[in-house]
Amino acid sequence: MTQVTASAPGKFVILGEHAVVYGKPAIALAIDRRFTVRVSPGPEFRINGEPADINANPHIKHVSSLYDMRPVSLHTESRIPPGAGLGSSAALSVAFSGAMRRLHGLAVEPESVAAEAFDAEYAAQGRGSPMDTSACTHGYGVALNMRGCDRPLWSLEKGGNRWDVHDIDVPAMTFVIGHTGIRAATGPLVEKVRKFRERNRFASDIVDEIGDVTLEGMTALRTDDRVRLGELMTYDHKLLSILGVSCKELNKLVDASLPHAYGAKLTGSGGGGCMIALTDAPDRVAEAIRSRGGMPYTVSTRVEGLTVGR
Ligand code: MEV
Repeated sequence: MTQVTASAPGKFVILGEHAVVYGKPAIALAIDRRFTVRVSPGPEFRINGEPADINANPHIKHVSSLYDMRPVSLHTESRIPPGAGLGSSAALSVAFSGAMRRLHGLAVEPESVAAEAFDAEYAAQGRGSPMDTSACTHGYGVALNMRGCDRPLWSLEKGGNRWDVHDIDVPAMTFVIGHTGIRAATGPLVEKVRKFRERNRFASDIVDEIGDVTLEGMTALRTDDRVRLGELMTYDHKLLSILGVSCKELNKLVDASLPHAYGAKLTGSGGGGCMIALTDAPDRVAEAIRSRGGMPYTVSTRVEGLTVGR
């Protein structure tokens, strides 16, 4: 086979980010914005027609290292804004891993792809959970470390932590994502929370509380209770703010959305990046976000995960 095309969705975290790093439950939903790669073997590494320095692309380098660093040419196309907490690097790792497996005649088992892509993310960030890579692989929705879920997908371990990933039912919902325009790397924010939690007993309590909110959120999602889900999202934003991972730009977009939404919160690692609002009035929320200097993206949930074709 000389060329493989693979595509994976972006994602957002509806509840549980940061606390998931400490084994608490979290829920991530795939969105209808995708990262697509077309991969073919070649004499040297090339990205979008240009010779590529593989060291400057840690996710691609890591996945390639599983295939003896045999060079490939990649063409990429993405509708996921990078550096925004929407899983752009996770979706790239997943799509590239899926394409490489097919190219090398291996079965494209979601479990193997999720593990390879998580390794790549972990190697690039130096820390984190398999939430993003699992959501981008499986699509729809995934819950991590969630009691009472009976559709296990896979379990992954790293750095003394273990995460059990489950498939969950996701209603078709509309969210408006508000991008602050500030790029914020995940690693330093995860590290910030780690230090805060190490020094303050009450920060551990906040992490526990985020875990409880996420458990209740799972029930609200299951019963499609958008009012309760929205309340929990807004409360979770307050807890994340106490952990020090919000910023004034995120708070501004959350506040602007709330009059037109069930709830709103930052999503992903915070410090910039994006917030999400659950709403029946996406145009009004989008307008409110734009009027406060953010970039709105209206997205739908319940979308397919990794696809690999020719
Ligand atoms: C990033 O999308 C979510 C964090 O919880 C980090 C992780 O789980 O890898 C902040």
